[in-house]
Amino acid sequence: MKIAGEHVQSIWYDLDCDSVKIIDQTLLPHEFVIVELNTLSEVCDAICGMKVRGAPLIGVTAAYGVYLSLRKNPDSLQQACSKLLETRPTAINLKWALERMKEDLSQEQSIDIADKALEQCQLIEKEDILICESIGNAGAPILRELWESRKNSQRYLNILTHCNAGALAAVDWGTAMSVIYKASDHGIPVHVWVDETRPRNQGASLTCWELSKKGIPHTLIVDNAGGHLMQTGQVDVCLVGSDRTAANGDVCNKIGTYLKALAARANGVPFYAAVPVSSIDFNLLTGVGSIPIEERSGEEISFVHGISAAKEPISVRICEDGTSTQNFAFDVTPAELVTGIITERGVFEATEASLQALLD
Ligand code: MRU
Repeated sequence: MKIAGEHVQSIWYDLDCDSVKIIDQTLLPHEFVIVELNTLSEVCDAICGMKVRGAPLIGVTAAYGVYLSLRKNPDSLQQACSKLLETRPTAINLKWALERMKEDLSQEQSIDIADKALEQCQLIEKEDILICESIGNAGAPILRELWESRKNSQRYLNILTHCNAGALAAVDWGTAMSVIYKASDHGIPVHVWVDETRPRNQGASLTCWELSKKGIPHTLIVDNAGGHLMQTGQVDVCLVGSDRTAANGDVCNKIGTYLKALAARANGVPFYAAVPVSSIDFNLLTGVGSIPIEERSGEEISFVHGISAAKEPISVRICEDGTSTQNFAFDVTPAELVTGIITERGVFEATEASLQALLD
C-alpha cells in the first residue's frame, strides 16, 4: 500500500536493526506508528492485542515470532510454536504458518536454525504478497461482469464489505480488498459500503483509511444498514474475507458476516468470500459448530474508543457499569449462502467437490 507516496507493508524484516517492523493497527486511523518487535512475547502481545490482525497477517507475524524466539534460544521451536498458537484461535493461517515453520526447521542444526527460520519467514512474507495480488486478479473479472450489466443505469458498482480484509489484514493487497483494488485499477468505478464492524470497528478505522489512501469512493455505514441497502437495490455485490473456511465452503469471518449473507440471499445479491488457500481448513468437513469462535473481552463492547475534538485519545463507557456482555468475534456463514470463493488459484463454488480441486 502507498502511504504519503511511499510503499509500506503491514509487516517486514528490517535488516539494519535485525528486527521485525509492523504498523500498530490499534492506533489507526488517528496515528500511523511503526513498532519494532524483537522478542517472542512482543509478537504474542502484538497478535493478542491486535496491533496486527487479519488472518494472513497473523500467520506471517507468527512465523516471525518463531524466528525471534530461535534467535535467542535455538532449541525453542516447539515451545515458541505452542505459545504462538494460543494467541488467537479462529484464523487458521496461524496454525498453517506454524506448521510450515516446524516442518521446515525440525531437522535443522541449532547453529543454523535462526538463519533458516528468517529465510522461511521472508519467503512466507513474499508469497503472501503474490497470493493476495493473485486473489485480486482472480476476482476482478467478477466485478467487471457485474459492472458491464449495470453500467448503463448507475454511476458506480456498489460493493458492501465487512471488517478489514485489505492490505492491513495481510502483508499487502489483502483478500477481498485486493479484488476491489484490482477492479479499480482496471477502470471499474467502484463505490464501497463499509460496515463499521463493531466492536473493534475495523471497517471504520482500517478499511475506510485504506480506501481513502487509494482514493476509492466509499461510505461508512452502521453494521445494521446492510439489509436496508440490499433491499433497496443499493448493493451489487458483497465481498468479504475469511479467517477459516471449511472443506465444504462454510466461511468463518468477522461477527456479522452471516447476517449480511442472509440479507444478500434474501435480496438476490451475490455474496463472495476472497480467501488464500492457506485459510481453507481441509481437516474440517463443515464449519458451522466446528470452527472455534474467539470470544474477546466484554470491555470491547462496553467501551468505545476514539479521539476527542481536541484530538486526544478517549474511551467512553456506553452501558451501565456491570452490564453483562458476551463478545463473539466471528461467525460462520453456511456454504449455501456463498456464491463463490475467490482464491489465488481461481474462483470456486462453495462446495466440497469444487474446493477439493485445490488439494490436487
Ligand atoms: O479480528 P480480526 O480483525 O483479526 O478479523 C479479521 C477479519 O475478520 C478479516 O475479515 C479476515 O481475517 C479476513 S482478512 C484477509
